[in-house]
Amino acid sequence: QSLFAPYTDSIDFFKGHNPFDLIKKYLSPLYVYNEDVLRTRCRDFKNLSKDSKFTVSYSSKANSNPFLLNIMREEGIDVDVMSPGELCTALAAGYTKEHISYVSNNISSEEMLLGTKNCKIIGLDSLAQLEMFGKVSPNSKVMLRFNPGIGAGHHKKVITAGKETKFGVNPDELPDVQDILKEYNLQLTGINQHIGSLFMEPSSYLQAVEWLLDFAEQLDLKQLEIIDFGGGFGIPYHKHASEPRLDLKQTGEKLDSLLTSFRKKTGYNGSFMIEPGRYIPAESGLVLGTVYSTKQNAETTFVGTDIGFNILARPMLYDAYHEIEVFRENYDKEEAVEFIPQTITGNICESGDILAKMRNLPEINEGDLVALLDAGAYGFSMSSNYNMRLRPAELLITSSGKLELIRKRQSITDLFNSIEIKNPSKDLTT
Ligand code: LLP
Repeated sequence: QSLFAPYTDSIDFFKGHNPFDLIKKYLSPLYVYNEDVLRTRCRDFKNLSKDSKFTVSYSSKANSNPFLLNIMREEGIDVDVMSPGELCTALAAGYTKEHISYVSNNISSEEMLLGTKNCKIIGLDSLAQLEMFGKVSPNSKVMLRFNPGIGAGHHKKVITAGKETKFGVNPDELPDVQDILKEYNLQLTGINQHIGSLFMEPSSYLQAVEWLLDFAEQLDLKQLEIIDFGGGFGIPYHKHASEPRLDLKQTGEKLDSLLTSFRKKTGYNGSFMIEPGRYIPAESGLVLGTVYSTKQNAETTFVGTDIGFNILARPMLYDAYHEIEVFRENYDKEEAVEFIPQTITGNICESGDILAKMRNLPEINEGDLVALLDAGAYGFSMSSNYNMRLRPAELLITSSGKLELIRKRQSITDLFNSIEIKNPSKDLTT
C-alpha cells in the first residue's frame, strides 16, 4: 500500500497492519502510535546523565494520553503537569505524587492548592503568584521559575526566556522573592527554567544550565532539593534530508561536567531535573488522513485532506515542517510514479489551513491516504473542535503488533455534552 513511505517502511511502523484497514475500522483522520519507538525515545534519556540524583520529568503537554504516559512511567520517566486535567491523566496513568511536578503559569489559588497537595512540588512563575501562594499555603515548599535571559526555539512563539516573554521571575527580583518567602515562611526547595522549544544543538541549553547553576549559588543550597533545567530537546523532522539527531551523548557529557563541578564546588546534595516534552513521543506518532479532492488553481496543485489545523495545528501555527507519506490501496509497485510539487491542505474554512506548501511528492489521487509524520508531540494535544469537527481516535500499535484503541473518536453527542440543548444528531438522515 506504500506509494511513498520510506520512513514508516524502514522501521516497519505499522507492523504489518494495512493503513487502509485501520482507517476503515477507526475512521479518518486517525492518530497512530508505535510502542517500540516510544520506548526507544524514553531510553535515550535514561543514559543522559550519570548523576545519581538526575530525574527526567516528561512535560505532558506534548501528549497526555494516559496509555502513553503509562509506558513512559514503566520506562522510569517522571512527569510534569501544568493543569488539573494533566494532573488527572498522570494519576490515571499510575503516577504517584513523588513522581509528579506541577509546573504552572498564571493559576488560581484553588489550582495552587490542588498542585501542592497532589504533587511532589509546585512550580510558580511570578512574584504575584508566589505571594498568592504564600497567602493560601504558608509554611510550604515551593519551586520558582527564573528567566535566564537566554532563549532558544524553532519559532518566536515558543521561545520562553529573554526580555520578550511572560515567563519566569527576573534574577534581579531575588531580594523581593526572599521577602515573600520570609513573610509566609515558604521554603524555596526548587528552582527551574525553560528556555524554549526545539533545539538541535545544545549550546544555548548548556549556557542556560550554567547560568542557573551560578544563580543557585546565591540561594540556601541546603534547603534546595531540585534544580530543574527545563526541556526543549528537538527531533529531526526533516527525515528526507537525513537531518542528524540531536547528539544526546555529547549533550549528556557536557551537562555532567557542569553538574559534577557544581556539586564539588558547592556541596549541593539535591537532585537535578530536566523536562523534555516533544523528544519523547514525537516520532512515535503519526496522523493518517484521507484525500478527498485534488484541484488545480493557477500554478498550484491542491490536495484536499481531512487533516485540518483542528487535527494538526503545528503547520498553521508555526509553519512547522512534517514529513508526508502517501499510501494507495492495492498499489502495484511496478506502476510508475511521478513526483510533482503539491500543496496539501485540510478541510477547515481558512486559507491558512495548509499542511505543506508545494511539497515534492508522488502525484496524489483522491482516495489515497496521507500520513503526517512526527505528530506524536503537540499533535492530538493541540487538536480542537474548530468548525465543530470531531477529535479523532488514537490507536497504539504495541510491541507485539497488537492494536489498542487508546482514545475513541469523538461523537456528535460528545460535542453536545456541555451544551444544554437537545442533540439533534439522532434525527439526521444519511
Ligand atoms: N517545560 C516547560 C515549562 C514547558 O513549557 C515546555 C513546553 C516543556 C518543558 C517541554 O518543551 P519541549 O521539550 O517539548 O520542547 N506547541 C509547540 C511547543 C510548545 C512548547 C511549550 N512548552 C510546538 O508544537 O512546537
